[in-house]
Amino acid sequence: MAQFLISVSALERNARILQDVACASGAHLLVALKAFSTTAGLSVLRPYAAGCCASGLYEARLGAQHLGRHVAVYSPAYREAELAELLDFAHHIDFNSVPQWLRWRAACLAHPRVQSGELQLGLRINPCFSTGHTALYDPCVPGSRLGIPAEQLQGVDLSGISGLHFHTLCEQGAQELIDTFRAFEKQFGDLLASPQIRYLNLGGGHWITKPDYDRAALISLLREIREMYKVEVFLEPGEAWAIHTGVLRARVLDVFESLGYQHAILDVSASAHMPDVLEMPYRPDVYAVHSGGSGTPAVQLEGEEYSCSGEAGERPYTYRLGAPTCLAGDVIGDYSFDHPLQVDDIIVLDDMSHYTIVKTTHFNGVPHPDIALLQPDGQVEVAKRFSYVDFEGRLG
Ligand SMILES: Cc1ncc(COP(=O)(O)O)c(C=O)c1O
Repeated sequence: MAQFLISVSALERNARILQDVACASGAHLLVALKAFSTTAGLSVLRPYAAGCCASGLYEARLGAQHLGRHVAVYSPAYREAELAELLDFAHHIDFNSVPQWLRWRAACLAHPRVQSGELQLGLRINPCFSTGHTALYDPCVPGSRLGIPAEQLQGVDLSGISGLHFHTLCEQGAQELIDTFRAFEKQFGDLLASPQIRYLNLGGGHWITKPDYDRAALISLLREIREMYKVEVFLEPGEAWAIHTGVLRARVLDVFESLGYQHAILDVSASAHMPDVLEMPYRPDVYAVHSGGSGTPAVQLEGEEYSCSGEAGERPYTYRLGAPTCLAGDVIGDYSFDHPLQVDDIIVLDDMSHYTIVKTTHFNGVPHPDIALLQPDGQVEVAKRFSYVDFEGRLG
């Protein structure tokens, strides 16, 4: 059975780095559940995280249950019943547009948790300052629906608002955050400095656990914001918690030649199990389990050796790695190996924890990979095994 295998030690390594940043800066580091919400993994992060960043009611409930502490919610738009439930347990609710704020303002301000200060309300603003290169992931593109540009705040009744939130980065460094904060400060500095604003949420997209991330620069910015503006500062990375912590282990089901290509059909689907491979598109590093290899995927099992793959034609045996689905484009890519692939060989697709497990579907009824944890003592614990019942149950 195919398996998402997540390393507990790797999660803890990332979590310790993030906790160190929180301690040194006084900022609160939340887990963005949109990136990683495997409950078994959240129990590993729980001692290190200040809480969760949720995209709506379901993630908020999951975070409250499995991470505890602070629940920060931001959604482009809330449904009435969703908001009513969130008011009972969330700690921050951020609104995406002036009409959303004005629509829900009275209901929020009447709630006892808002009146007691246990729940604070904020606005997601758009500093209209792009630092990214991929439009799909850039909330500051022209025509963006995400966040309120400065000019739209003119004349709006902001009484009851005590937080500001921006999220503009994607896989970026401290300097991009500093540049964005300066742009934000120019437009929203007066509001941030006013006594009504008590928190600033700097969103996600911070690649804090990458070895070359300038953590000292981040810490100094966070301290500066706290001291100068007297606000609590929150960051809500997703990827940084889970990057380099998991792999997808697949098995070769068939190998054949057709129309000039060697095909290897795996028991996993790009479309169903790693859609970013098609959407971004993203080419994962791929390893074959072969003795004598020297590859190092993020998660390794004791007693296994891994050989690296290369671009098509780089190594002696090239295969198009494809899925067992009807979708012609359901192909992971063309990869070359030092050894010929055979039925039942294990193929390891690297870095598959974040934004992968959360996006899986049961397309074509392909059996869903197990979700398992590799414990520090080398034991593999299956946290979730999917069956026909899951497939049947999802579709009503
Ligand atoms: C509002 C918000 N916060 C946090 C995140 C997490 O970002 P990342 O996983 O890149 O750190 C995202 C990602 O899209 C987001 O939209």
